[in-house]
Amino acid sequence: MLKKPLIISTDPGIDDVVAITTALFAPEFNVKLIAATWGNVPLKNTLDNTLKLETFLKTTVPVVSGAVRPLLRDQIDASDVHGKSGLAGFDFPSPNHNLLKTGIAAEAIHEVVAGSAEKVSLMQIGPATDFALYFRQFPEDLPKIEQLVIMGGAIGRGNWGPYAEYNVAGDPEAAQIVFSSGIKILLAPLELGHQAYVTPDVLDQIKQSGRTGDMLYHIMSNLHDHTESNGREVYDALAAGMLVKPEMFAFKPAYVIVDTKSPSAYGASLIDFNNFFNKQANVQVGVKVDRDQFSEWLVSSIRNINS
Ligand code: RIB
Ligand code: CA
Repeated sequence: MLKKPLIISTDPGIDDVVAITTALFAPEFNVKLIAATWGNVPLKNTLDNTLKLETFLKTTVPVVSGAVRPLLRDQIDASDVHGKSGLAGFDFPSPNHNLLKTGIAAEAIHEVVAGSAEKVSLMQIGPATDFALYFRQFPEDLPKIEQLVIMGGAIGRGNWGPYAEYNVAGDPEAAQIVFSSGIKILLAPLELGHQAYVTPDVLDQIKQSGRTGDMLYHIMSNLHDHTESNGREVYDALAAGMLVKPEMFAFKPAYVIVDTKSPSAYGASLIDFNNFFNKQANVQVGVKVDRDQFSEWLVSSIRNINS
């Protein structure tokens, strides 16, 4: 099978590690670049965590350092969820600095897309800062983007304000630039994590799935996601599942816009399924996923890794 080229923008982050790992070993995709950005923890940590993960996995995908902070708003962090380092629960080996590309993320992304014979897929599992900067710097690349799968937004209640989800709220202006880019966007909102929470028995199956499963078990067991569900809500892994196996999900078209103006709802993702704004849908929103099917995919993806 011809592997499709993929670029990941990420802020590892425990759930980012689950998503990156499943994407790196997905037979359908060839990860050409990982852009670490500010997000759950500061950039120096997310970059280090990305390089440490590749040392552990023995992978050699080039890594580039992304934005150090949001475009306009003040920086936020989620170290209470992911730990101070961003990767609580496992003692990773030292970072493989040989993988670090010099230069800025937008140029490194452009280099991959411009040099690719086929269209390139993007997966955004942190704030939108780097893809927004890339779209603004290289608009001529947009026709060569196959799709952008985003973990972000909330159809209903948020996790960083009544209606704001962390990734979108982290850089609302960047998120608005991405949502209005005109490319094909698949969205994995918080609700999919609420539906497909990872239960203790599934965590145990992951633990029994080799050294990588053991590592993922330990970090996922340290994910303090403050939800009341009966398991761990591994949001970014839903985006990876959506990328690799979209047939696991039901989608609904929506016009998505980000509140970048109001003081109280700043960063809220407004997901309009009912044409209130009288605008063409710009996003396919994942509205349903079967928890058992997702769990089966997650466990089998990890089991098939023998790194
Ligand atoms: O709201 C969940 C998102 O914020 C996930 O991407 C998690 O890693 C954090 O970045
Ligand atoms: Ca993330």
